[in-house]
Amino acid sequence: MNAFRLSTDPAEMDVTAIHAALGQQYWAVGIPIETVRRCIAGSIPFGIFDGDRQVAFARAVTDRATFAYVADVYVLEAYRGRGLARQLMDAMFAHPDLQGLRRWLLMTRDAHGLYAKYGFTLVAGSDRVMEKVDREIYTRPPRTE
Ligand SMILES: CC(C)(COP(=O)(O)OP(=O)(O)OC[C@H]1O[C@@H](n2cnc3c(N)ncnc32)[C@H](O)[C@@H]1OP(=O)(O)O)[C@@H](O)C(=O)NCCC(=O)NCCS
Repeated sequence: MNAFRLSTDPAEMDVTAIHAALGQQYWAVGIPIETVRRCIAGSIPFGIFDGDRQVAFARAVTDRATFAYVADVYVLEAYRGRGLARQLMDAMFAHPDLQGLRRWLLMTRDAHGLYAKYGFTLVAGSDRVMEKVDREIYTRPPRTE
C-alpha cells in the first residue's frame, strides 16, 4: 500500500521543512523562510506527506487561465526513486485550476528526463528552459464523443 498522502492545501504545507529542503537545492541556497512563505501563498502548492512528515514539494505559479510555471520541485533524498516526483507532476496536471492552459514553463539543470515524460521540450537556444505549449488550444474544435 502507498502510505503517502498528497495535499494542495496551502495551510498544510510545512514551511519549516520546505525551507530546510529548498536551502539544499542549487537554485535556492540561502532563501529566507519568509520568502518561502510568500511563494507558497502566491502559488498552487503540492506536498507529499509520509505520516506527518512533508517529504516532497512542488508549486505552480499561474494565472489559472493560460499559463503556469513549475517551480521548486524536490523529493527528499531518502524518498527518491519511488515515483513521488511523478505523483507531484500527475497531481499538477490534473488540478482543476490548471486545465486548458496554453503554455507551461520550467527551468532545470539536470532533470530534463522527468519533465520530458510530461511532454516538455527544451526551448530553442536554451539547455535549461523547458516548455509545453498547446498552440491550437483556442481554435481546436471541441471533441465530440
Ligand atoms: C528530480 C527529483 C524531483 C526526482 O524525484 P523522484 O521522486 O526520485 O522521481 P520519480 O521516482 O518520481 O521518477 C519519475 C521518473 O523520472 C525519472 N527521473 C527522476 N529524476 C530524474 C532526473 N534527474 N533526470 C532524468 N530523469 C529523472 C525517473 O527515472 C522516473 O522515470 P520512470 O517513471 O520512467 O521510472 C529528485 O531527484 C530531486 O528532488 N532532486 C533534487 C532536486 C531537483 O533537482 N529537482 C528538480 C529541479 S528542476
